[in-house]
Amino acid sequence: MPLYQTIQCNDHTQLLIWKITESLTDLESQVEMKPKTQLRFDNMKSELHKRAFLSVRMLLKEINLTDFDLHYDSSGKPYLDGDKHISITHSHQFAALIISDDFIGIDIELQRDKIQRIADKFVDKEFAYLIPKKTEEYIKKLTVIWGAKEAIFKIRNEKGISFKDHIEVNSFQLSENVTTAILHFDNFSTPYKVHFSEIENCTLVYAFVL
Ligand SMILES: CC(C)(COP(=O)(O)OP(=O)(O)OC[C@H]1O[C@@H](n2cnc3c(N)ncnc32)[C@H](O)[C@@H]1OP(=O)(O)O)[C@@H](O)C(=O)NCCC(=O)NCCS
Repeated sequence: MPLYQTIQCNDHTQLLIWKITESLTDLESQVEMKPKTQLRFDNMKSELHKRAFLSVRMLLKEINLTDFDLHYDSSGKPYLDGDKHISITHSHQFAALIISDDFIGIDIELQRDKIQRIADKFVDKEFAYLIPKKTEEYIKKLTVIWGAKEAIFKIRNEKGISFKDHIEVNSFQLSENVTTAILHFDNFSTPYKVHFSEIENCTLVYAFVL
């Protein structure tokens, strides 16, 4: 499938989602990469990862960019030539990117039962509003919380940030599709607005600095 969805988040932020249905060969025939990227691609072991990586480059083409415009810093954080910020995510069947004048982060997570087993690794104060007995809602809310923390981490990107100890996602209802969060780190508290929605069996989350 080509482009799955485009979301105009605000007048200077665009989000694009690709559903990864093409074969590796099909995608490879449509994407040109710079030598550095090609080397990284050639070293990837998983075909799923390679297809996701190429799907991100297909999304770049949708906004008239190419792999030659996309770079990575030493931590793996992507950036573009010019003033726009970019954030990238890929899950099993979706790849997505968000591009904005603001600092932004994005994450797509598959909704999985097993997130319950690792909840205490990334959830702390949020337990106050979670109801574990409502299993389906609990899994979906945990996935939003996880995605929010990944998205915020991708914005701030500093060593030492703990999802459990430093990022707090405020109470929300799944129907609201929006919440707020605070990163307490390095003697500062930074508030974020967090948007979330479901795409098939995945949760899409993106965050902005408030
Ligand atoms: C780097 C990290 C944010 C990637 O997230 P992920 O859910 O594993 O994978 P996603 O598919 O959502 O995102 C991958 C993309 O994130 C981007 N990325 C990688 N490192 C990044 C960083 N340091 N900052 C911002 N973005 C980063 C890249 O664009 C990457 O895709 P690409 O290399 O193909 O372009 C994540 O692995 C991580 O290190 N998180 C923080 C560590 C942590 O505290 N984890 C768990 C605590 S319980």
